[in-house]
Amino acid sequence: MNERIDGLKDKVILVTGGTSGLGLASAQVAAANGAKVICADLSNSQKSLPEGCEFQALDVADWKATEALAKDILARYGQIDGLVTSAGVSALGDVESLDLQEWDQVLRVNLTGSMLSARAVAAHMKQRKTGSIVTIASINGMLGNPANLAYCSSKGGVLQMMRSMAADLGQYGVRVNAISPGLIDTPMTSMLQSGPARLSFMKQHLLGRAGNPLEVGRVAAFLLSELSSFVTGANIPVDGGFSAAKVIEVAEVQ
Ligand SMILES: NC(=O)c1ccc[n+]([C@@H]2O[C@H](COP(=O)([O-])OP(=O)(O)OC[C@H]3O[C@@H](n4cnc5c(N)ncnc54)[C@H](O)[C@@H]3O)[C@@H](O)[C@H]2O)c1
Repeated sequence: MNERIDGLKDKVILVTGGTSGLGLASAQVAAANGAKVICADLSNSQKSLPEGCEFQALDVADWKATEALAKDILARYGQIDGLVTSAGVSALGDVESLDLQEWDQVLRVNLTGSMLSARAVAAHMKQRKTGSIVTIASINGMLGNPANLAYCSSKGGVLQMMRSMAADLGQYGVRVNAISPGLIDTPMTSMLQSGPARLSFMKQHLLGRAGNPLEVGRVAAFLLSELSSFVTGANIPVDGGFSAAKVIEVAEVQ
């Protein structure tokens, strides 16, 4: 793998949702550049994680467990330089049809879970006057999407949470940024990997294709590194141009 990002050597990075999809790709790029990466997830679906990565079981909605994990990492490594919050779940449904338990679960994992992970590392980063928090939001946090109310709401919340945390922590040298991916082929989007829904998505991505997890992982690694030292409070769409333009078929306007 040629994924060179300078400035990650010997950094200690916590990645939630780190055993699958975008979290795993972020972990992979950081570890390939010399970071020690803790991949925290409900379970480990990988036979083996990339070299430099270790698995730790975690439910990000559980504050006590998240706090204990951060303390354990600090006891063993002495520092936490970066956090990527990638743990996430989705649920379908509109305002009338969505299941209220699913609404609660999506908000608990995507929004509250991201906040709790940041909470577990914030005091340490403030004290060291350095640190980078990267939260994985979504184009669905920037734009509405039919029958996806809980997910869109959670990701919109993640973007505002990111900006508010950037405002709180900037004075301490701690940076907070978000990545908003378009359609990326991962287990979460397996239902969109063929069929008419995929074709429709492809048309909306200006590059005419879905993304690869590493295309998000590289941006996460950039945000974790000192290469992005003057970037905070930013939402970076990694969406093949999805959020840049409304694509209208010529036939539709004739
Ligand atoms: N794949 C896409 O197209 C896409 C687009 C935009 C945003 N995202 C976001 O990117 C993030 C990663 O998604 P992905 O596509 O890699 O999906 P994924 O399903 O491959 O990975 C998500 C991981 O989160 C873990 N997870 C779920 N609930 C958890 C919990 N309570 N505690 C700890 N871990 C938990 C899962 O076990 C899984 O390993 C999510 O936040 C998702 O909303 C994905």
